[in-house]
Amino acid sequence: MRHGKIIAALSAAALALTSLTGCGSKEPDLEIFSWWVAGSEANGLAALQDVLAEKYPDITFVNNGASCGGGSCKDVLQTRMAGGNPPDSFQVHAGAEAQDYITAGQLEDVSYLYEEFGLNDVFPKDLVDMLTQDGKIYTIPSNVHRSNVIWASVASLEAAGLNTESAYYESIDAFIQALDKAVAAGIEKPLAVGTTWCQVHLLETVLMADLDQATYNGLFDGTTDWAGPEVKVALDHFAKLMTYTNVDRDAMDWEPAMDKIFEGTAVFTIMGDWVPGALGEKVEGTDYLWAPSPGTQGTYGFLADSFGLTVGGPNPDGGKAWLDVISSREGQIAFNKVKGSIPARTDIDLTEFPAYQQAAAQSFSNDKIVGSIQHGAMATIQQGDDTGLAVSKFTGGAMDDAAMAALQADLVKAYSS
Ligand code: GAL
Repeated sequence: MRHGKIIAALSAAALALTSLTGCGSKEPDLEIFSWWVAGSEANGLAALQDVLAEKYPDITFVNNGASCGGGSCKDVLQTRMAGGNPPDSFQVHAGAEAQDYITAGQLEDVSYLYEEFGLNDVFPKDLVDMLTQDGKIYTIPSNVHRSNVIWASVASLEAAGLNTESAYYESIDAFIQALDKAVAAGIEKPLAVGTTWCQVHLLETVLMADLDQATYNGLFDGTTDWAGPEVKVALDHFAKLMTYTNVDRDAMDWEPAMDKIFEGTAVFTIMGDWVPGALGEKVEGTDYLWAPSPGTQGTYGFLADSFGLTVGGPNPDGGKAWLDVISSREGQIAFNKVKGSIPARTDIDLTEFPAYQQAAAQSFSNDKIVGSIQHGAMATIQQGDDTGLAVSKFTGGAMDDAAMAALQADLVKAYSS
């Protein structure tokens, strides 16, 4: 089947009231937590809100989320839930991350909604398996994203004397040669990256490049040793790549980091395919190029956002309406066209979608699928947190041999449970 390979791979201020429809002072009939709050990411959520307003005009909606890329602020959600103040529904990545909430008993079984909304045959089975435990299905996917993508600005490629026809590099070493060329041409920090989670994102794409599919998957089931030589090669590559990145990286999220390639202070950024949602009127080929990240041609770095019904959520009917919206054809078309992702539903004709999503869907059908670390497909919340700590300790320090040994040891520890 088309998607048949996934399983193999696979605060107070922050609690900003980000959108409210309907009567101003009324308590919301539906409250969600999502990090699609700011910048281009808010546009995808707005598209879903429009569908909600059409299908459920009487429902007042609030995204009581927090602004952070990659779900790096999900501790805000966890604190709320631990405090007995859960939202009705929340954004969660399919895979190990969703399993954490399922195991903690924080998600309702929504199998009956799959029946009610006619969803049983519309999602890839392997994706639904990632959201299932003991035969019960706990969330509904809204989209599928790809993590391993490189984005380059054509003007910066030109300024750096690099190939302006393709942004693909066969290996990390070939990419490093291109970065050296950009430095020699005067672009001192040609690889734009944002804060810790973006650095973990970069690291996962290097692991996808340097490890084959089975070895990469083995990192999460204990069959590949994080202390082993293949991982060391990837970590050395990661450390080298970090030397080409902007020094202000820890102060920014992915979108301002990406802006650097269009400002001319960088040439490339490696980021998931939420980037198209931020490109506005820019034209592929003229303004920017994209390609699988270096060394990952034929591999699709998978992640999916999903939503469920929170145990103890105050407005279950509002929550159900939200799940109806995010899983509906209208919802998935409206959201994914804007967001850069592809619909999780398999019964949507993509010919009306932008060229990027059409190409991504082809890759999703044909490539080897490996799951994202940063975006919860493979790493549990604890493993993700520990990976972030290990990476920030490394990139915030000397990045010397001792720090490299500590990084690898920290990763061994993070994935040993
Ligand atoms: C991912 C999420 C995407 C996008 C991205 C950047 O974790 O799945 O939908 O929001 O973070 O924030």
